[in-house]
Amino acid sequence: MNILILNGPNLNFTGQREVDVYGLESFEQILVELQKYFPGYSFELFQSNHEGELIDKLHRFIIYDGVVINAGALSHYSYALYDALRFVTIPTVEVHLSNVFKREAFRHQSVISAACDGVIAGFGKWSYFLAVEWIKNHA
Ligand code: DQA
Repeated sequence: MNILILNGPNLNFTGQREVDVYGLESFEQILVELQKYFPGYSFELFQSNHEGELIDKLHRFIIYDGVVINAGALSHYSYALYDALRFVTIPTVEVHLSNVFKREAFRHQSVISAACDGVIAGFGKWSYFLAVEWIKNHA
């Protein structure tokens, strides 16, 4: 199983930015843990601060068995990502580290959710583990 972890803007600073909200671990560390937790799975982490690069990556979904996407702030307004996700036919889970519903009102809406199979938010790094667990059971 080949899982794409697709992270959007600012998530490259996870572990350093707003650590009270996003936690102290970097994605490099989280990836090592995911690899241990799901032996036999291969994970590709792709992070970009650019909407178009995330879309280009989604266009190549065919080489993966599942996508875990945290589009960061783009989740709240990117119709281009929504359209790209509608094109994806493999299991796709939207995740957020933080509980977006406990935060500012603009974070309460995600325009990409309707193009994903499900949404997991608020469990820190565990949001990603739960998403992979679902993909594993769904496949
Ligand atoms: C986030 C929540 C978004 O609102 C925010 O813009 C992020 C991170 C999360 O993982 O909690 O960059 O997607």
